Amino acid sequence: MEQIVIHGGRKLSGRVQVSGAKNSALPLLFATLLAPGTHRLTNVPALRDIDTVEKLLVTLGAEVRREGDLFEVCLNGKTETTAPYDLVRTMRASVLVLGPLVARLGHARVSLPGGCAIGARPINLHLKGLEAMGAEITLDHGYVEARCDRLKGARIYLDMPTVGGTENLMMAAALADGTTVLENAAREPEIVELAEAINAMGGKVAGAGTDTVTIEGVDELRPLEFTVMPDRIEAGTFMIAAVMTQGDIEVVGALPDHQEALVSKLEEAGAIVTPFDGGMRVQGTGTIQSVDIRTRAFPGFPTDMQAQFMALMCLANGTSVINERVFENRFMHVCELQRMGADITIEGHTATVRGIKKLLGAPVMATDLRASASLILAGLAAENTTQISRIYHLDRGYEQIEKKLNALGARIERCRADGV
Ligand code: EPZ
Repeated sequence: MEQIVIHGGRKLSGRVQVSGAKNSALPLLFATLLAPGTHRLTNVPALRDIDTVEKLLVTLGAEVRREGDLFEVCLNGKTETTAPYDLVRTMRASVLVLGPLVARLGHARVSLPGGCAIGARPINLHLKGLEAMGAEITLDHGYVEARCDRLKGARIYLDMPTVGGTENLMMAAALADGTTVLENAAREPEIVELAEAINAMGGKVAGAGTDTVTIEGVDELRPLEFTVMPDRIEAGTFMIAAVMTQGDIEVVGALPDHQEALVSKLEEAGAIVTPFDGGMRVQGTGTIQSVDIRTRAFPGFPTDMQAQFMALMCLANGTSVINERVFENRFMHVCELQRMGADITIEGHTATVRGIKKLLGAPVMATDLRASASLILAGLAAENTTQISRIYHLDRGYEQIEKKLNALGARIERCRADGV
């Protein structure tokens, strides 16, 4: 098993380019199932989750060619419609094949993803929407099956602004007979990008980025040519790294309209944030003020930045209150941060962080993707050395992060853990 060793206490400075957005590339790659032919996506990040998508698309009958950030999907033969358990359980976003497969081929059989470290992660709203469009949904032996000769447009109210649910239903509606209106839809930038991609394929999606998305179904779509946007969560992670190490980093790909909530909180914490063409410069100013956050759907403070922001608040003057409102179990980084000396108490969905002068390097364990990033940030700021194990979590969502951080002045090694 690999681990990451961080020699902390070094200021980070310089310029870093973030990779393509994992949470946009995933739905975009599954959207290729909406049309036969050869699709070409660029700026696709090299991540373990993207490798899983490749395996899944090949299992479904696609030919895939990857060269650097180019990801080519060729769907010319028969497309299978079953997504197997061994792939879905490693990446729950695989449920996003449901919408495109049942829309184009009238059938999809997908292993239920099951929960994950951060929560139960149900897909009831995905299924409720497909049923409203006429799909017959059956559950058996851990698989969900959707059947429908042709989906029909419907007005669907989403009980909560689910990102994956909005994405699945947008893709399903793209080939439905008639118009679909998604109310209380997710508003994330990844939703806007998926709508742009479906429209580039000949679809008719309007309102993406607002809470009401209207999709006029068409009879067929054409192959996709698209470039994935920069990863706003990777960008936010580097922005926090600048503040934590009292450094000065130009983050290329940190787009202001993707980062309003984070920028507002970083400035409240005392950082200086200066936009430039194509990114933002973030400077630490010697002191970190404590700030309260409450995670919410976009444009609220992103739940995917909660663990990283908590690492920052461990070094703040004063006490901050962090309220995780999206997932039910997204505090697993807390006990690892406590091993580094952090003073944090949890009560239900709320963590109270009392700032301390310094974190101390220690052996810690990654438990999920964003918790891994939180531990890296803590290790960068901590005195002495931090060893992070189970970094396969990290590799799901960050492309060569140690290389990027070392180029900014960090001292990080990836090595095999002793005896494993
Ligand atoms: C997406 O997950 C992201 N993943 C997550 O990023 C992100 O944390 C999440 O959106 C929220 O922003 C991808 O885009 C691949 P949701 P998703 O459906 O779609 C409940 C990361 O670190 N819910 O918006 O699964 C659900 O339990 C990952 O990159 C239902 O109850 O999130 C959760 O509490 C982690 N029923 C809330 O909604 C449903 O049918 C938000 O889930 C669907 C969701």
